[in-house]
Amino acid sequence: MADIPAPIDATKTPEWKALQEHYDHLQDVGISLKQWFASDPQRVDKLSFDTSDLHFDLSKNLVDDQTVKLLVGLAKAVHLEERRDAMYRGVHINTTEDRAVLHTALRRPKSDVGKYVVDGQDTVADVHEVLDRMYAFAKRVRSGEWKGVTGKPIKNVMSIGIGGSDLGPVMVYEALKPYADAGISVRYVSNIDPNDMAEKVKGLDPETTLVIIVSKTFTTLETLTNAREARAWLLAGLKAQGAIDDSDDSVAEAIRHHFVAVSTNAEKVAEFGIDTQNMFGFWNWVGGRYSVDAAVGLSLIIAFGPERFQEFLAGFHDLDEYFANTPLEKNVVALMGLINVWYVNFFHAASHAVLPYDQYLHRFPAYLQQLTMESNGKSVRWDGTPVTSDTGEIFWGEPGTNGQHAFYQLIHQGTRLVPADFIAFANTPNPTKDGEQDVHELFLGNFLAQTKALAFGKTADEVRAEGTPEWMVPARVFTGNRPTTSIFGEALTPHALGELIALYEHITFVEGTVWGLDSYDQWGVELGKQLAKQITPAFHDDQALAGQDASTKALIAYYRAHR
Ligand code: F6P
Repeated sequence: MADIPAPIDATKTPEWKALQEHYDHLQDVGISLKQWFASDPQRVDKLSFDTSDLHFDLSKNLVDDQTVKLLVGLAKAVHLEERRDAMYRGVHINTTEDRAVLHTALRRPKSDVGKYVVDGQDTVADVHEVLDRMYAFAKRVRSGEWKGVTGKPIKNVMSIGIGGSDLGPVMVYEALKPYADAGISVRYVSNIDPNDMAEKVKGLDPETTLVIIVSKTFTTLETLTNAREARAWLLAGLKAQGAIDDSDDSVAEAIRHHFVAVSTNAEKVAEFGIDTQNMFGFWNWVGGRYSVDAAVGLSLIIAFGPERFQEFLAGFHDLDEYFANTPLEKNVVALMGLINVWYVNFFHAASHAVLPYDQYLHRFPAYLQQLTMESNGKSVRWDGTPVTSDTGEIFWGEPGTNGQHAFYQLIHQGTRLVPADFIAFANTPNPTKDGEQDVHELFLGNFLAQTKALAFGKTADEVRAEGTPEWMVPARVFTGNRPTTSIFGEALTPHALGELIALYEHITFVEGTVWGLDSYDQWGVELGKQLAKQITPAFHDDQALAGQDASTKALIAYYRAHR
């Protein structure tokens, strides 16, 4: 194991015990946000924070001054700040893979060249070398200087990847669509289900399509299968148009014009037939789910341009600096992570909703699912010992207001506590009026109404006062005290989005640190991959079928009978 201190069992610390006693006390006296607001006029001020682009209101959480104090004490007891600093310095905190965890180096400015030399590598210099190559390449594609094999400029990009090589770019592409200014659209193919590719190639012209194969390892089954399919589709299309012939030279020329790769594995990229001149690299100290700001974001630079991508990176970096340099008791990033721990381990909340009031963020919850759940969905700590508390809550969500008409019922009146983050922006790129009504204000009114209803609820007396028959009163009561955090920004700019992503990266780190987890490995995805290899032949091969369990055998029998 890398030379890092063993995790501290948070549950055995006096700080944990104090939190448990505090929780028990709050249960005894009863938590009332209404009362807390009434008795402390400073509450909103004390629990409001600002980073460079985002404003945070944590006042509607189930915390008082004492909770915050105790949570900060817990963070100190598990040496959160030391571990954060070790991460930023490039210590191998990813113990099971013996790797540094340096996504923060991906967004450092050029002025940091030479300051973060890790394992003999000047990380920031290398990052900027690749960024500069990506910017130069993207400029050529955007201007039309980079041409397809028949001499036509690129109109569409197909980006093929999965997990961290897909979710980040898709989410950001959707979020920043108003910034797409080069007339180039991007389609993302991820699923090995052939339906994904079949739908995504519809209407695409091979002559004007650039394919980016994005895979950190360049061994991922789904991505490599889709990459071969895309190659076959593109070459067949060009041949049908008479643009190329079957000769190796002709095929190689087509691939050179239409395929580029993003990977850490040059050997495999070359094996696939892509010239490594057309490969953009990153490093094993960037986790897949932490890589949208590395070369994995190439499609975004093509769609939005280098300047926007630089603003995006600056947003990440500003938040990184804030997290590194703000005392814990005023550090909203640390506090949000700690408050999540409070809900998971003391209130036994099993899930956490993320509810963007911005349609452009509609893929944000899906992106967060990989970031948070692949990172903290673990039962052993970074030294292999079992955890002694719950870990990794389930993150989920949908944009408001749609969610209001679907699952909010459970959040308002169900038996489970679902802490929720609401994210909204004061400005929209699409201002609209419905008569005299500003539609964005109508939208934001809903965001404010929901967080208010969840916090303060509606009492039986209030329901009665509306003339509700007595037997129906209980069904119409809202208990309130359902916690939310409001994240408000001026506008969903590239910079604000960079901050928002870095915020959740670090929240994930904070939670993982309290639980003693290596938040940067993902061994839990391996078994399914191995078994898929072993099972797939059994569809046709009786010998392979014989080795399967009874349920798998029966399902394959069904398949054989119905195929
Ligand atoms: O299977 C999980 C995973 O390894 C993710 O962590 C990763 O983001 C994804 O697969 C894709 O991996 P790659 O970029 O190597 O194709």
